Amino acid sequence: MCGIVAYIGSQQAMPLLLEGLKRLEYRGYDSAGMAVTNEQGQLQITKCQGRVSVLEERLGQGAGLPGTSGIAHTRWATHGRPSDTNAHPHRDDESERGSGIALVHNGIIENYASLRTWLEERGHTFTSETDTEVLVMLISELFDPANGIDLEKAVQAALREVTGAYAIAVVCEHEPDVLVCARKGSPLMIGIGQGEYIVASDPSAIIAHTGQAFALEDYQVARLTRTAFRTSTLDNVCVSPKILNLELELQEIELGEYPHYMLKEIFEQPRSLRNTLRGRLDTIEGRVVLGGLSDFIPNLVRAGRIIMLGQGTALHAAMIGEYLIEDLAKIPTEVEYASEFRYRNPIIEDRTVVIAISQSGETADTIAALQEAKDRGAITLGAVNVVGSSISRMTDAGVYLRVGPEIGVASTKAFLGQVMVLTLISLFIGRRRFLSAETVSQYLRHLETVPDLIERVLEQSDAIRETTARYVDRENWLFLGRGTNYPVAMEGALKLKEISYIHAEGMPAAEMKHGPIALINDGMPAVFVATRNSQYDKVISNMHEVRARGGRIIAVATEGDQDITAHADDTFYVPDLPEALQPLLTTVPLQLMAYHAAVLRGHDVDKPRNLAKSVTVE
Ligand code: M6R
Repeated sequence: MCGIVAYIGSQQAMPLLLEGLKRLEYRGYDSAGMAVTNEQGQLQITKCQGRVSVLEERLGQGAGLPGTSGIAHTRWATHGRPSDTNAHPHRDDESERGSGIALVHNGIIENYASLRTWLEERGHTFTSETDTEVLVMLISELFDPANGIDLEKAVQAALREVTGAYAIAVVCEHEPDVLVCARKGSPLMIGIGQGEYIVASDPSAIIAHTGQAFALEDYQVARLTRTAFRTSTLDNVCVSPKILNLELELQEIELGEYPHYMLKEIFEQPRSLRNTLRGRLDTIEGRVVLGGLSDFIPNLVRAGRIIMLGQGTALHAAMIGEYLIEDLAKIPTEVEYASEFRYRNPIIEDRTVVIAISQSGETADTIAALQEAKDRGAITLGAVNVVGSSISRMTDAGVYLRVGPEIGVASTKAFLGQVMVLTLISLFIGRRRFLSAETVSQYLRHLETVPDLIERVLEQSDAIRETTARYVDRENWLFLGRGTNYPVAMEGALKLKEISYIHAEGMPAAEMKHGPIALINDGMPAVFVATRNSQYDKVISNMHEVRARGGRIIAVATEGDQDITAHADDTFYVPDLPEALQPLLTTVPLQLMAYHAAVLRGHDVDKPRNLAKSVTVE
């Protein structure tokens, strides 16, 4: 959603904050800004509409912002369009009413309208259209050092009045050696250095400075000086955070030789999936080893129903998981948009297990749905990538994806990580229910080969670019598949639309006849995921139906399938695998098509229009 960086220490804050903003820019990039406290204790604020590079240029034009503490922000607009005025930081009134407080915020203050009215009645003047400005004014209104209400206490008191989600970092001219942060619903991590602290929305902006950090929990406030920190609840009760060792390597979050993070992450998939599998396959005994689930084996084996929740790409992974769990573990399974589940009075029976799928572990809709499931008594599991994220902490148990940081806004390696983890969970449960050791062993041997097989698919990248170039000016595309390849088609369509802005629809191939076939006109591209499996012949019939109406067929087919060339205009091949595992390969050509289409159309692949990596508001 938005990215926050803040610093207090002995180094100049400005270059450090800028570097952090660049690392967090994938979280939002419609405006950027920073406030640095100078030696005289005055706040200096520079902010503007546009990318971090625009802010950098603006800062470079003057003397910069000298000082050793500050806050910074890169924005994804919610309340108020992108503009210089709406950019963060926001400060309280410039008039004598102001207390010299500035704040950056990620999240949404839901009751901002009533708070704004109350503050206006008390004489505050607002200049922006944001909900954030209300929060800084409220802190300012409550700040009363003469009566013992310092910045920390004013923040605590203000947040007791707020509903919604927030991660905030606050500075104040009256307390120039203090930085206050807080969170509810939006992530915030505090890196602990030698005589310095660096605060950020995610570890990527911290690891260049320190490997020690802690994550703030919901409703917690941290008061940082250069030499000490204190964490408390909103009621000012002291709490001790759990200090973590960040295990990220800097190279994992750097582009290296690649032009875009998305391409880097597509090509990283063989390596990231080897990590997902490491230590989890026992091919001799025919067992999957998932230590994170060991305390919940009886609950999983006896589960009467599994519900999987997610949004976007994570939902598509869950849809594949539904096929896998029903097929391999024989437990009735449903998939639902987390955003819908939460508001429809869902039925959670005695033996219901809910699995939340999420790369970031911070998606607001998924968190809210998970909370609903917990409140109704479900056992909850997470299939999450970001270690220590909200979902990983909320769930009873879980399995990490282990694919490393995903920075490209379009999710790629996390999707295959999610599918892989759901495959492992299906086999883990299946083995304890009906599957023989021999059957599981066979699947595991196939899974071991998947990283190498993906490398073979990636070799076609240039050919995929050439083919994509022939269709890239078409504004409407269809993506079709059956069985486990139906969610793959959905994911292919989502990838194409989110970075190339081409209208694409993914659906079960059979569904096309029930309406969408009316869209097909001369030259319309239809991408069929048509691997050799139980529904191959039916998919070929669907191809005929498209061709007969002038559509052009791009097929993803099984290596060695020469027959397909009679039905398709263009074909990409993937190695053969058992049907249940095919999505681990068939997804890859679609990721590459979307990537090449976006580049060919001249779009910024890693920062697509209107999107942000992590959607931390509902
Ligand atoms: O972090 P999550 O996996 O919970 O995110 C869910 C979706 O917001 C995410 O998959 C989104 O659809 C991606 N932009 C897709 O590429």
